[in-house]
Amino acid sequence: MKNFNLSVAMLLFIGLSSLQAQERIPQVEALLEKMTLEEKIGQLNLLTPGGGVATGSVVSEDVEAKIKAGDVGGIFGVSSPDRVRQAQELAVKNSRLGIPLLIGSDVIHGYKSTVPIPLGLSSSWDMELIKETAKVAAKEATADGINWNFSPMVDISRDPRWGRVAEGAGEDAYLGSQVAIAMVEGYQQDDLRAPNTMMATVKHFALYGAAEGGRDYNRVDMSRNMMFNEYFPPYKAAVDAGVGSVMTSFNDVDGIPATGNKWLLTDILRERWGFDGFVVSDYTSVNEMVDHGMGDLQAVSAMALKAGLDMDMVGEGFLTTLKKSVEEGKVTEEEITTAARRILEAKHKLGLLDDPYRYSDASRPEKDILTKENRQLARHAATQSFVLLKRNDNNLPVSKTAKIALIGPLANDKFNMLGTWAPTGDRNLSIPVLEGFRNVAPNAQITYAKGANISNDTAFAKKVNVFGPRIEISDESPDQLLEEALKVAQASDVVVAVVGEASEMSGESANRTSIQIPESQKRLIRELVATKKPVVLVLMSGRPLDISEEMDMPVSILQAWHPGIEAGNAVADVVFGDVNPSGKLTMSWPRNVGQIPVYYGERTTGRPQATEEFQKFKSNYLDVQNSPLLPFGHGLSYTLFEYSKIKATSETLRPGSTVNISVTVTNVGDRAGKEVVQLYIHDKVRSITPPKKQLIAFEKIDLKPGESKTIEFPVTVEDLKFYNTDLEYVAEPGEFEFFVGGTSDCEMQGTFNLVE
Ligand code: BGC
Repeated sequence: MKNFNLSVAMLLFIGLSSLQAQERIPQVEALLEKMTLEEKIGQLNLLTPGGGVATGSVVSEDVEAKIKAGDVGGIFGVSSPDRVRQAQELAVKNSRLGIPLLIGSDVIHGYKSTVPIPLGLSSSWDMELIKETAKVAAKEATADGINWNFSPMVDISRDPRWGRVAEGAGEDAYLGSQVAIAMVEGYQQDDLRAPNTMMATVKHFALYGAAEGGRDYNRVDMSRNMMFNEYFPPYKAAVDAGVGSVMTSFNDVDGIPATGNKWLLTDILRERWGFDGFVVSDYTSVNEMVDHGMGDLQAVSAMALKAGLDMDMVGEGFLTTLKKSVEEGKVTEEEITTAARRILEAKHKLGLLDDPYRYSDASRPEKDILTKENRQLARHAATQSFVLLKRNDNNLPVSKTAKIALIGPLANDKFNMLGTWAPTGDRNLSIPVLEGFRNVAPNAQITYAKGANISNDTAFAKKVNVFGPRIEISDESPDQLLEEALKVAQASDVVVAVVGEASEMSGESANRTSIQIPESQKRLIRELVATKKPVVLVLMSGRPLDISEEMDMPVSILQAWHPGIEAGNAVADVVFGDVNPSGKLTMSWPRNVGQIPVYYGERTTGRPQATEEFQKFKSNYLDVQNSPLLPFGHGLSYTLFEYSKIKATSETLRPGSTVNISVTVTNVGDRAGKEVVQLYIHDKVRSITPPKKQLIAFEKIDLKPGESKTIEFPVTVEDLKFYNTDLEYVAEPGEFEFFVGGTSDCEMQGTFNLVE
């Protein structure tokens, strides 16, 4: 009965969404009427004239001539109102039909007022804040001529070896979905025609984060069950939030490259989810299907179009082969018209067909970019992204009048502060930690020493420095650097060491098989600890690191990711206690690389390990515990929170009703602070193996010292649904356990029953 209802509902839904898609826009249809086959194919072509970051070996040539010829639908890597106006003029005044261009960009974490890398931002668990940062990014980017953004990246990632974990929101489908919604809503708001909003692109569809071995661009193989339950939800959430475009991923899905995967791009995205925007490939990912073994350029271009791809990024496979494919009957003109229609509809949604220059207002950059307010938001966002991993002897916060040894290769650095994928930011404008310390604690005695290179390995540094200096190896020897730092440390009350990864040690094509702090810096840390001075580590990285050794040391550890343009000020705000840290990890941190993947939502096994003790013939390791070093949801504060009175209003949940799970949280310390209260469930019996725990709700609250708040999480049948083996979205009757706490590593608190 349940299945029957569901399929009727699904049919109705599919019917409705294709009806919606049939609503034609007269302005677009009138244009299509006039267009030649070549002009339609031209709309499907996305080029970059350079000037941005080229993430492949190809950069487009003769872009001007192609725009004039009507062979280009959009460009990226071009900004400023003037340059964008010039580009639009090429299209509008010179091409036969004068169709304006989409102007794309990778605005991944802020435009010029760079905010923390997305993995950091997600650690704030503050959806309003994330939305606000996206809004400001859109305001700045549109002021500079951009109307289409290649963000949010929502790929679930559970493998910290993969460099691109920095760009997403971590391991969890529910949290990832909330972040996806916040970002789409922030970029697009509810009016894409407004001059300060831009079209968002959810990427990389799909499963890009599950590359084997954590090696970028590598193959992915995954069950449909895992796709639907654990990897698809954030993409779907973005689609439901009205995202304007979808970017395909480089990997294959079930043996077929995503860019040419009809099941993915048509059956799932359009027919099942009702997506009515356009689909763009990733950088040359059409061409890369040749290397994937799918045929020659003509064959893969036809395959991609037929699968549901509308726009070809940089590779020009569509431009150079589709006409021939029409002539040879390999694709139809109608398929090309459908894709061109979607591109034109996007231009219509953005208001470009009415006013091609609406994003070329020369007076805007000065008013809207890098304003005091935007930088203030970037600073606030950074403080909210920091995660206090460990607090030792209350040596954090540091007194503003202390004698401080500020040490480390990232302590007086500008070039790594923005983080990876910040091509629109200006590294020279970022605030180093040393400067931030002087701003926030002018009465402290601060002495700086570099202490170590990020890495001493010149060959490694060369690979990391592809976009400019990130690892700068000093002329001084490592021993000299260390000696100076130890001298400074000896003379101090407290040592603050800013250590970790260079920005380009994570990000695209920046994978690592060892995810420890580089040895040059580990040595520095050991020696600093040996001075017996209180030591605070401010750790910067684009991924979870293996810090097993450092966690065992008598140090405090503040994870600061790569904090963005206001890095130094934000680090100082938290180190000196003006802001109490409140971030929580959105990816588990492993004890070692061999434990990867390690994530809180793993499925049950038939031989679970009851305790952390090794047990023969149970699912565990001889050499390390099963639990991660630091779990998803973990993050400390300068104050303490106590959880009490956790209860459910009812033991029974019926369809249409609600069980309220309530909890009282009290700040039992002496500082105001914020806590992310998390609710997890475990489905005790179901038709496919359930996760051991699953986040279904959270709330971030503010508490003054001594203050208590009671939070209620209303739970309905919707929160208990999953995709069963037939990929139907169902909740199954039976017992559910619930867990409440300030980390995923929290205790079971009670149960309720779902009855039919
Ligand atoms: C990346 C995308 C990005 C594109 C355009 C690709 O290499 O995978 O995330 O949007 O380049 O810059």
